[in-house]
Order: sequence, then C-alpha cells, then structure tokens
Amino acid sequence: MDFELCHDLIAMDWTEAAALIRVAGLGERKPDKMRRAWENSQLVCVARVKGQLVGLGRAISDGEFHAVIYDVAVLPEFQGKGLGRRIMDALLNGLPMDTVLLYAVPGKQGFYKQFGFEPLLTGMARFQRRERMKTLGYIP
Ligand SMILES: CC(C)(COP(=O)(O)OP(=O)(O)OC[C@H]1O[C@@H](n2cnc3c(N)ncnc32)[C@H](O)[C@@H]1OP(=O)(O)O)[C@@H](O)C(=O)NCCC(=O)NCCS
Repeated sequence: MDFELCHDLIAMDWTEAAALIRVAGLGERKPDKMRRAWENSQLVCVARVKGQLVGLGRAISDGEFHAVIYDVAVLPEFQGKGLGRRIMDALLNGLPMDTVLLYAVPGKQGFYKQFGFEPLLTGMARFQRRERMKTLGYIP
C-alpha cells in the first residue's frame, strides 16, 4: 500500500489523531493536550493514505545521548501491511543517539525486538496512575 510519510504536524487534525490513538488501544487523549505533547517532541512521523491519517509515532530526546519513542500506532484496518515497520524505521533513522528507549504495550514486545530493542534489567518507571498500569500489565 502507498503510504505517505511526513515529519511535520502542519496538516494534523488533532481530533483525528486522538481517535487513532483510541482505536489503536493506546487510551484516551485530549486533542489539545496531545497537540502540545507532539509539538514538544523532537521527532514525529505521520502516515497518511489519500489524506487520511493511518499511522503515527514520535520521540522525545535531548538531541545528543538519549531518545524515547512513544505513541507508535497504526489504524487497525491498516495494520499488518508494513506501516508500523516503516514508521519505526523512519523514527530510528532520525535518532542517532547512543540510547533509544521505549516501553511496549504488554504483548507488543515482539514487534520492537526486530528493531534491536531488548528488555531492560534495571529499567524503572514512576507512574502517577500506578494501580492502572499494574492492571494493564506494565508493572508487576
Ligand atoms: C504494533 C503496531 C504499531 C505494528 O504495526 P503494523 O503496521 O501492524 O506492523 P507491520 O505490518 O509493519 O509489521 C512489521 C513486522 O512486525 C511484526 N509484528 C507486528 N506486530 C507484532 C507483534 N505484536 N509481535 C511481534 N511481531 C509483530 C509483523 O509480523 C511484521 O513482521 P514481518 O516483517 O517479518 O512480516 C500496530 O499493530 C498497532 O498500532 N498496534 C496497536 C497500538 C500499539 O499497541 N502500539 C504499540 C505501542 S507500544
């Protein structure tokens, strides 16, 4: 399938973006809050087919040593067609840092392993909604 990938947010419709995040199972985002988070990100990747938003991903970074990838998502009807891989390749190509981190949605670790991501032995996170993250399977 012919996906158009871009690295800017010029044509982004934030209601459409929040809907993609929701239907991909990554939770509820307020469009305005999402816009601010994405505008503050170092690198974004947005995929469209005939103008329709079908996939996205972003990274925050210090520009030198560290980057963290978030919000990689593809519309369910466009999954399994190689778009997730293209978004990850595009993000990783733009992140020449020593260390790129992410934490996967439980069950999606296999998707990231193929890009060289490995489980951390000492990774730790402090979650505001700890009980929810525990229920979702992010922490023991
Ligand atoms: C995870 C996701 C981004 C993958 O995107 P996609 O477009 O379906 O993936 P692709 O078609 O590019 O798949 C690329 C490769 O990854 C593999 N893959 C996809 N999902 C996988 C998974 N959950 N576990 C292991 N491998 C997976 C595919 O089999 C394919 O392998 P191949 O190239 O050897 O055939 C997509 O399924 C999605 O948006 N899921 C819902 C949101 C989500 O969970 N995002 C991850 C947040 S951490």
